[in-house]
Amino acid sequence: MRIAVLASGTGSILESLIADDLPIGVVLVDRPCGAEGIAAGAGIPVERVLRTNFGRDFDRDRFTDDVVAALVRYGVGLIAMAGYGTVLGRSIHDAYPGRILNTHPALLPAFKGWHAVEQALASGVAETGCTVHVATLEVDEGPILAQERVPILPGDTPASLHERIKAVERRLYPATIRSVVEGTAAQPAELDVPTNGAGSILEAGSTIDTGRRTG
Ligand code: GRF
Repeated sequence: MRIAVLASGTGSILESLIADDLPIGVVLVDRPCGAEGIAAGAGIPVERVLRTNFGRDFDRDRFTDDVVAALVRYGVGLIAMAGYGTVLGRSIHDAYPGRILNTHPALLPAFKGWHAVEQALASGVAETGCTVHVATLEVDEGPILAQERVPILPGDTPASLHERIKAVERRLYPATIRSVVEGTAAQPAELDVPTNGAGSILEAGSTIDTGRRTG
């Protein structure tokens, strides 16, 4: 099964997927970014569906249709978002139902949204983490496939904490994608990190950003 990776940033998560020898057929970006160079360096085709409008009148559905059209050309069966900065519309979920994965730098359902690391730090919780989940139309919702805790240390800045989280994501995301590709992914009930707030460390981080990412 060929995988499309969607990225907008430095591409260090993409790099970990490449290093794990996952069958990546294309890297699609929504803006010029470091991920392009990493893909090119590995001989992976790069598709640019560039987003030029970050305003209120952004035509999300049309943009999503363009993304889907680009992906369909590569015959991919699974999509892995790896720091992709545009919330996509319904058509990609219709085209790839249950086949879109995401990694998020917090222990969902705590700290949804684009500022998860900053919010975890500001909230005073002792630990945060990362979550690999099936992406749905609702941002940072969808069945959780894997989670891992990451401690918040004295003196942490958003950058230092995010890097510690990403170090875990670079191990957890490739492994989880591989388990999906191979059909051995854990069911949510098998996870050892609580996935709801009841009696869990997630209670302390209850500041949920329900705003949609717009880039
Ligand atoms: C990761 O922390 C991912 O969870 C988030 O964006 C970051 C991507 O990092 N959605 P990089 O650009 O791959 O270094």
